[in-house]
Amino acid sequence: MKTVIELIEKQLSGAFEACGYEASYGRVTISNRPDLCEYQCNGAMAAAKAYKKAPIMIAEDVAASLEGNSMFEEITAVKPGFINIRVAGAFISDYIAKMAADEKLGCEVSEKPETIVIDYGGPNVAKPLHVGHLRSAIIGESLKRMFRFLGNTVIGDAHLGDWGLQMGLIIEEVKERQPNLCYFDESYTGEYPKEAPFTIGELEEIYPCASAKSKADPDFAKKAHDATVKLQQGNRGYTALWNHILEVSVADLKKNYKNLNVEFDLWKKESDAQPYIPDMVQMLKDKGLAYVSEGALVVDVKEDTDKKEIPPCLIMKSDGASLYQTTDLATIVERERLFHPDRIIYVVDKRQEMHFTQVFRVARKAKLVPDETKLQFLGFGTMNGKDGKPFKTREGGVMRLERLIGEIDQAVYEKMKENRSGSEEETREIAKTVGLAAIKYGDLSNQASKDYIFDVDRFCSFEGNTGPYILYMIVRIKSILKKYEEAGNSVEGASILPPTGKGEKDLMLILSRFHDTIEQAAEELAPHKICGYIYNVADAFSSFYHETNILAEPDKEKQSGYIALIRLVRHVLETCIDLLGFEAPDRM
Ligand code: ARG
Repeated sequence: MKTVIELIEKQLSGAFEACGYEASYGRVTISNRPDLCEYQCNGAMAAAKAYKKAPIMIAEDVAASLEGNSMFEEITAVKPGFINIRVAGAFISDYIAKMAADEKLGCEVSEKPETIVIDYGGPNVAKPLHVGHLRSAIIGESLKRMFRFLGNTVIGDAHLGDWGLQMGLIIEEVKERQPNLCYFDESYTGEYPKEAPFTIGELEEIYPCASAKSKADPDFAKKAHDATVKLQQGNRGYTALWNHILEVSVADLKKNYKNLNVEFDLWKKESDAQPYIPDMVQMLKDKGLAYVSEGALVVDVKEDTDKKEIPPCLIMKSDGASLYQTTDLATIVERERLFHPDRIIYVVDKRQEMHFTQVFRVARKAKLVPDETKLQFLGFGTMNGKDGKPFKTREGGVMRLERLIGEIDQAVYEKMKENRSGSEEETREIAKTVGLAAIKYGDLSNQASKDYIFDVDRFCSFEGNTGPYILYMIVRIKSILKKYEEAGNSVEGASILPPTGKGEKDLMLILSRFHDTIEQAAEELAPHKICGYIYNVADAFSSFYHETNILAEPDKEKQSGYIALIRLVRHVLETCIDLLGFEAPDRM
């Protein structure tokens, strides 16, 4: 379906042409003075220069030629040359009625659907998920849903970190604690045990312990490094142990992501790129891109236009150990081979920007993907506490994701408990749904690249620009619709009527902008645009609701028009929150 702007533009362009001017002056935007008009066209100002005429004269000509056009309620030329537009009520109600009848609410699927790999989540094996991973999961999940809604083929990949030094650290620490395990016996040729020699709880204690030890003890650090190289080179015992680490932590990660309503299509790992590394490195050498510098293999990536220094990209250390850059490059090779994507989007902390600049440049120079394949880095900001510093527990430790979610759920529960009518169990269940909305909306309503303050009280509030407020509006609509049906009416037959009040028309105008919003949000990788939009929808609904007594309306036809309208509000809000990755309960 064409957007309202496109439809108005068509009329305006036609009018400019009919008056003897070029059609392209008929560009229309949403009014920046909603008190004066709904849409505006500033084309007469630009045309004035080209045609050497007073802009107001052009605007008057164009406006006059649209007199009587049924799309407009009012179209006027105002000084110095604006064309102010109000659309006709019947036009806008017709438009949203068509939206309501369409499964995708009038959103067209992309003309050229793309295959898109989204690399998000990025958890590290054997390290507990912490709030830093939260943003990647939340933003990436939303992008995945947006692009999929628009008809693209989207592959969400968790890209587990399982190939770096942390693995060597764990292996070495396990070795110190249980040196007699068969994994460390080089002469062992039998089968390795099926059971892992540790639980997830133990594993999570082993990593920080080993990491601290490596900082204090250079000897241990060296051993961990050597263990990493040995693992990367395929040592049998280490590989078996590493498989246990993977198994135990992936099971735990899956549980955690499920609680976040985050779902990956692929659970690929850094290590999956290992088979592609030798050939890729050889190719980099053959093409004359990679050379040895201070013992390590590097590729120059600086460009003349750089404003800051971009150091060479390290490809391999002198002992043959591959690095984060190496696995990321080889993963591009792998993705190209498996999916031939039109683009790859990385949703990663913006502090990793340099890493991705280097990786993308090597990928381009070496032509790991065709020139037209887009490589996009969506770097997100830090989630801070109220003190403006990276979010911590009250005791100052790293906040685990599970604990953070628990605290939010509890805060929502406390609020709901005061006037709850359902059972304890039900209230807890609803608090979880609302809590997730609080977290996700709190995050997504900020521009991704910005740091933001994670404020439990504000995010959980049922008023203001929050997830719970949006849910509250949906719940309110659900309850009106239910009462309407309980009174013996059917919501199915209701159809949208032209607006009779200002609040009603404003609500319709906002609803009609769904399509533009979703496309723009996808284009700019900006879920916060959807948040801004639904906040406006919720507010417009709230105003309409306060000026209209829907259930007590005596005129049955009018009432059924209202019902059809709020059904559409519900459909739009529910579609949007689904794109953001959360859902609404039936009551709260
Ligand atoms: N595991 C990494 C980390 O925790 C993030 C991975 C992001 N994705 C990538 N392809 N490098 O920092």
